[in-house]
Amino acid sequence: MPRSYPAPTNLKVLPKDFTGQQVHETMEGWAGSLGVHCDTCHTADPKNVGPNGRPRLKFDDDSKPEKQMARIMYTMTEDMKKNYIAKVVEMDKMDSPAPPLTCGTCHRGHLDPEEFVIPKENGPGGPPPPGGMPPMPPMQH
Ligand code: HEC
Ligand code: HEC
Repeated sequence: MPRSYPAPTNLKVLPKDFTGQQVHETMEGWAGSLGVHCDTCHTADPKNVGPNGRPRLKFDDDSKPEKQMARIMYTMTEDMKKNYIAKVVEMDKMDSPAPPLTCGTCHRGHLDPEEFVIPKENGPGGPPPPGGMPPMPPMQH
């Protein structure tokens, strides 16, 4: 029997008509993209203990800063998709479509996105990347 999820009561950034199921799927995506569990953003409710003896999470509570940051991040990601990525996709329409921008595009399984270090072979002084680089213009003396 498929599990049913209660309808959300405290959505401030996700579409207000999202069902419990849609919220749940979104949440699984966020947790996976950031490499965290639900309790990174959601507070435990000591008054509501589950069958495993651990407190259940109070999903509509807003006290964790991570939850509030995630709201900003979601709004930012939607803004980037609508106002920036969509324009590039429009200009780039000859190419095969790029994968959609998600939390995972930046986070890649980490709560704090890792710093990108340019690999030596692609950096200044290294050999050209596979596929080659355009030829350098001749030196002017
Ligand atoms: C990165 C932070 C983050 C993680 C991880 C996360 N959530 Fe959330 N969750 C949020 C935010 C932010 C909202 C509120 C969205 C809004 O305001 O529209 C929310 C809302 C919810 C709601 C709706 C609550 C209500 O009644 O309004 C449920 C249920 C929920 N999350 C379940 C989960 C579950 C289950 C997991 C783990 C699989 C999870 N969340 C992981 C940030 C997170
Ligand atoms: C364009 C890149 C980008 C995208 C897309 C993105 N993030 Fe982030 N996120 C960042 C960066 C960079 C930081 C680190 C900010 C800082 O220095 O603390 C961050 C920080 C966070 C934090 C705070 C981490 C902490 O230290 O507590 C949360 C939570 C978070 N992001 C959630 C999300 C969620 C959820 C999504 C998708 C809805 C998302 N992010 C999409 C770049 C991104």
